Amino acid sequence: MILSGKARLAGVIGWPISHSKSPRLHGYWLEKLGIDGAYLPLAIEPENFEDALRGLMYSGFGGVNVTVPHKEAALKFCDEVDPLAKRIGAVNTIVFKDGRSYGSNTDAFGFIENLRQDVENTDFSLDFSLDFFGAKAVVLGAGGASRGVIVALQDAGVKNIILVNRTKERAEVLAADLSSGADGMITVADWKDRNEVLNGCDLLVNTTSLGMAGQPPLELSLDKLPKSCVVTDIVYAPLVTPLLGLAEKRGNKIVDGLGMLLHQARPGFEAWFGEKPEVTEDLRKFVLEG
Ligand code: ATR
Repeated sequence: MILSGKARLAGVIGWPISHSKSPRLHGYWLEKLGIDGAYLPLAIEPENFEDALRGLMYSGFGGVNVTVPHKEAALKFCDEVDPLAKRIGAVNTIVFKDGRSYGSNTDAFGFIENLRQDVENTDFSLDFSLDFFGAKAVVLGAGGASRGVIVALQDAGVKNIILVNRTKERAEVLAADLSSGADGMITVADWKDRNEVLNGCDLLVNTTSLGMAGQPPLELSLDKLPKSCVVTDIVYAPLVTPLLGLAEKRGNKIVDGLGMLLHQARPGFEAWFGEKPEVTEDLRKFVLEG
């Protein structure tokens, strides 16, 4: 990579940041598209977050992605925040312009685009469809990632969202928070009932950390799950989680979580570097190898 004096700059802020795949992902697009620009990993401690953001803005950065643990602080920092990010309660993409900061959240977009691209690319007989309108979705987990997924489902027209979390109170807070003013009813179910609620489900999403490498497995029986249900996991290490492996074996359509990471990066890249990037099989391989 050779930069000119006019190079465009962006990056990702997190603490820690060394595990992030975003620099490799954006670096791939920059190289592929021959753009005079760079995207850097920026390890910033929480107490320095605001100073660092101002410093980057005054240094001419086009903006940054924001990851754990700064997403809520980013919402407070930005001069303007888009309504979707406000609903989710977190900002993951900031654009600097004329000394002002504009915050958005692209996780919901990434989640839906991943499902759309994967399901559209599948040559399957009419057993599956991804018509969200009026659908029933079961969402496991009520952490930060769950918020983006639920908002995405509401906006895609899902009418019946069953939210199941080990800590029920957390799910109730989330449901109350996201229900007001939005379509898509959220019903909270007990963690112990997670096998039963799969009856009649069109889409099953795991947003918990269960099944991730180094974490306990997700204990779930899919006996009640219709064969037509699409199953997706936001965990992408391993790419085929035990849940996805089990679902695939019994004939369900599965969508892995890597695509959500790749698609959520698209709007930021376009805003900072001025070109529309594509999510391809080659990109998936490249990011996984890193
Ligand atoms: P993220 O931002 O990735 O969603 P998080 O906010 O830490 O991370 O949320 C982790 C999710 O995984 C939560 O839904 C959590 O359930 P609790 O709210 O009960 O903590 C879920 N989770 C983590 N470990 C779990 C376990 N052993 N059993 C069931 N759920 C678990």
